[in-house]
Amino acid sequence: MQEMKANNRISDFIGAFLRENEPLLEEIREEAQKDAVPIIRDETAALLRVCLEMHKPKRILELGTAVGYSGLFMLYSLGENTELSTVENFPQRILKARENFARSPYSENITLLEGDGGEILERLVLEKKSFDFIFLDAAKAQYPLWLPLILELLPTGGVLFCDNILQDGLLLESRFFLERRQRTIHKRMREFLHLLRENAELESSIVPIGDGVSISVKK
Ligand SMILES: C[S@@+](CC[C@H](N)C(=O)[O-])C[C@H]1O[C@@H](n2cnc3c(N)ncnc32)[C@H](O)[C@@H]1O
Repeated sequence: MQEMKANNRISDFIGAFLRENEPLLEEIREEAQKDAVPIIRDETAALLRVCLEMHKPKRILELGTAVGYSGLFMLYSLGENTELSTVENFPQRILKARENFARSPYSENITLLEGDGGEILERLVLEKKSFDFIFLDAAKAQYPLWLPLILELLPTGGVLFCDNILQDGLLLESRFFLERRQRTIHKRMREFLHLLRENAELESSIVPIGDGVSISVKK
């Protein structure tokens, strides 16, 4: 509990030093929060933006569009020379994301892929698509299952940025202290982190910011 309080204080402290959002992004963020749509935390978004500025990807794949907040956040940072493909399977959120994309200057840069992330990843691999930055932010229990497909889509030098890795500290607990419904995600997420560590093609780091992030580069 003490640790949690310290983390909240750190998060609040960092928050005081974050830049203001672009007005459209701020509007989307506030609406998402009002509607309880889970979106990237501000301090995680700031780290994401730094990675994007360092890497300057031309083709981004995002798994987990929600209402388009993080997708647009990335494009506002990189501008019109970047293409974003983003995947979502929840119809109501797809509608809202389309609306939000249409309001932005980047609608031409965005392909919204509707459906299950796993199926779409398989299709993209068959189509021999390649993305130099992949933002993984959907279906946490699927991360270890999706990783092999993701690696096929990532060229050498490509970056994989994954959110919610530490599950608000849940991952640190013994599985025996967890409720039954939490155990699958606990098992799968730990499995995912093992896979990142064991994969000789990847150099990875786990960053305890927001809900926990892993950043990997394909060597
Ligand atoms: C945390 S939210 C994404 C937030 C978004 N990246 C942002 O920061 O603005 C995760 C999204 O993934 C979607 N999702 C969950 N499982 C999925 C799946 N198997 N295929 C596609 N989308 C999925 C959910 O509907 C949800 O909108």
